[in-house]
Amino acid sequence: MSSSTLALLLILFGTLCSFFYLFRSRNRHKNVRKTPPGPFPLPIIGNLHMIGKLPHQALHHLAERYGPIMSVMLGHVPTIVVSSPEAAELFLKTHDAVFAGRPKLQTSEYLTYGPKGVVFSEYGPYWRTVRKWFSLHLVSASRVESFAPVRKQEVASLVESVRKAAEGGKTVDLSRQVGKVIEVIMSRVIFGRSMDDQIDFKPLIEEVMNIAGAFNLSDFVPFLAPLDLQGLARRVKRASKDLHEFFDKIIDQHEQQGTKHKEQKPYTDFVDVMVSLLDTPMNPKDKEQSSIIDRRNIKAIMVDMVAASFDTTTTAIEWTLSELVRHPRVMLGLQQELDRVVGRNRMVEESDLQKLTYLDMIIKESFRLHPVAPFLIPHESTEDITVDGYFIPNKSRIIVNTWSMGRDHKVWSDDAEEFLPERFEDNKIDFGGHDFRLIPFGAGRRGCPGMQLGLTTMRLIIAQLFHCFDWELPDGMLPNELDMTEKFGLSLPRANHLFAKPTYRLVG
Ligand code: HEM
Repeated sequence: MSSSTLALLLILFGTLCSFFYLFRSRNRHKNVRKTPPGPFPLPIIGNLHMIGKLPHQALHHLAERYGPIMSVMLGHVPTIVVSSPEAAELFLKTHDAVFAGRPKLQTSEYLTYGPKGVVFSEYGPYWRTVRKWFSLHLVSASRVESFAPVRKQEVASLVESVRKAAEGGKTVDLSRQVGKVIEVIMSRVIFGRSMDDQIDFKPLIEEVMNIAGAFNLSDFVPFLAPLDLQGLARRVKRASKDLHEFFDKIIDQHEQQGTKHKEQKPYTDFVDVMVSLLDTPMNPKDKEQSSIIDRRNIKAIMVDMVAASFDTTTTAIEWTLSELVRHPRVMLGLQQELDRVVGRNRMVEESDLQKLTYLDMIIKESFRLHPVAPFLIPHESTEDITVDGYFIPNKSRIIVNTWSMGRDHKVWSDDAEEFLPERFEDNKIDFGGHDFRLIPFGAGRRGCPGMQLGLTTMRLIIAQLFHCFDWELPDGMLPNELDMTEKFGLSLPRANHLFAKPTYRLVG
């Protein structure tokens, strides 16, 4: 049988199944259980045709019509879209345990062995152990602190390179510069080496990020998966093999170099920590020692680290810089705070950061309008449940639309579209998932464990760039002319790079 005949048969079969499923579920739910309102789904594709290239915006508009708990079919996947702080609290706090699952995605199955990392492992004892282990050994407050010399050194190189551009009267590609410094910092923190070291693994990491961020039809219409219509399965298999081989080399080097390697740098990188724990029980209290840390665990966690930290931190900084250059009033306010706390005779130190309260408000405001993970990471229900009177079946996908929540006029008043950091002045809204009006790092059991690492890096880079330099848009561009188009993928970055012209402002 030719592959086109097979495709046709599969599509026919899928259409029949979809009709049967829709007919059955509509009838059953009409009589017995009330499901959340939502647009009527088509066979096979469900509501996929309605979400377009910017799904967070399309779902925001649909939620305005159907409400903050809305039901859509993404292909064959029943999905609940949550779009208000009250609703988010129901899903991520009140019923957190039921919604702490993650869907099985084709790419993460290959990239993280099944998955054996933190991000996509299913909610249960394995995830609990590996997450505790991750938080304790890799991203604890003391470990984040121990990387301060790496941040200091790399941010100083960034300032040096921008200073040269300023002296030459040149415009700087801020998106590229920020992306580069984050790659170097995070690579040194994770692997103990930078991207520019002996092996050039940047193209490989880029390929992994592109695959992970791509819209994968196989995840939504599983009966089409064997055809691999987008070629993603082939790409992810190849990239996973190359990545795992590369990570094996890094682990080998860490094992061989042992203490000599550690003496060369003033901190212990993530692979050092993980290698020192190889072949030990993941949970020392586990009497049967059923989970022993092996290479696959380490490699899966390395993949998670790269995927969870590179793009997120870069995108968050890029949006904050964009808002600052197009709001000279706010930029000036930040520089006045920096002058007061730091003074123009020296650069910013990490110890200054906690005194920069206006900077904190700016970052909150930037996250409100530009959450880097607009849907968080998809959650999945682990049993049938009724929430706010709506029946939600087991294995429903849960999308929390934080982009929509940040623009809700009922919560943020009529100026919700405006960038006004002062709105955070007299309230205690924080990032930590306690106040559901602002949850850029998620909340509850699956909330981001790397928040401190991400935030410290962000704060230092933004503070340093605005302390050392004044910035203006190139070629006489007016602030309101700056393109702010978004591009949806693994995170939600700017569609086009941000360019600005620096002028050095420190004394000496
Ligand atoms: C500004 C930077 C960052 C932002 C905005 C961010 C945001 C997020 C968000 C929204 C989630 C999903 C929460 C949910 O599904 O409810 C998440 C999960 C996660 N993040 Fe971050 N993140 C950042 C940096 C980092 C860093 C630096 C690391 C580690 C090196 C990290 C590690 C993780 C992990 C492992 C998870 C999965 C947690 C789980 O499933 O249990 N993140 N992050």
